[in-house]
Amino acid sequence: MEFRDKIVLITGANRGIGKALVEACLKKEVKKIYACARDKNALSVFQDERIIPLTLDISNQDQRLAAANMALDVQILINNAGVLHPGSLFGESTHDFREDMEINYFATIEMMRAFLPVLMKNKEARMINIASIAKFTNFPFIAGYSASKAALYSISQAARIELAQHNIPVHIVNPGAIDTDMNKGSTMQMTAPHEMAMNLLIDVEAEIEDIIPDKIGKSMYEIWERSPKELEALSRQLFFQN
Ligand SMILES: NC(=O)c1ccc[n+]([C@@H]2O[C@H](COP(=O)([O-])OP(=O)(O)OC[C@H]3O[C@@H](n4cnc5c(N)ncnc54)[C@H](OP(=O)(O)O)[C@@H]3O)[C@@H](O)[C@H]2O)c1
Repeated sequence: MEFRDKIVLITGANRGIGKALVEACLKKEVKKIYACARDKNALSVFQDERIIPLTLDISNQDQRLAAANMALDVQILINNAGVLHPGSLFGESTHDFREDMEINYFATIEMMRAFLPVLMKNKEARMINIASIAKFTNFPFIAGYSASKAALYSISQAARIELAQHNIPVHIVNPGAIDTDMNKGSTMQMTAPHEMAMNLLIDVEAEIEDIIPDKIGKSMYEIWERSPKELEALSRQLFFQN
């Protein structure tokens, strides 16, 4: 698989990982990118004729359908948009947990559903969903977010299973810690979004289904692979340190 000459749609393309993915796709010489954002004006940072800016709040059904009716030639759907409400299970209101679930899980499901007819019509189609390393264990200071990403991972596996018959691969990306607004104020050593984005594209080109595109993600995954309980213990330790 090559990104070169492909037509890609990226949600949450105005900042962070989404913006870095747009730039990485341009470097990979894609043919066209539908760059989506809740505020289309925020996409004016991109000055490249291959970019088609689209207004898209993924939780808005009308906007989802309008995007799917407009971007009829999309081959690669990248579900990147996401939210994180920090907080622990017994510390926060249930409202924040619902919000994380609403965007990261339900709205992302609706994006997959809205674009499936488009992907089915186009050649060499695939989906890429951005989950998180937090799907492997619950990090209590982002308890609701972790649960929403575990749910997204699971339903993306369902998409992978169901779409295999149509030859539409589904990649699930599980980053650890990337230096974006989502981690504002963190003192962790994080991977730069442009580095993570290029790692992601390279792994997709290598047909890797489950992708971990950064150092912290990989080190956490290694712990989980050795023993899921060890990663849970690390999470508990981090919770009590904070
Ligand atoms: N940063 C990390 O360490 C990390 C690790 C694992 C996974 N991830 C995942 O990677 C993805 C991108 O995160 P990021 O780090 O780039 O975060 P970010 O800098 O906070 O950017 C989030 C993006 O999602 C968009 N968004 C939020 N709600 C939306 C909605 N309802 N409709 C459309 N767009 C919406 C935001 O748009 P606005 O500008 O309009 O708010 C923004 O473009 C997320 O799914 C996140 O969970 C990030």
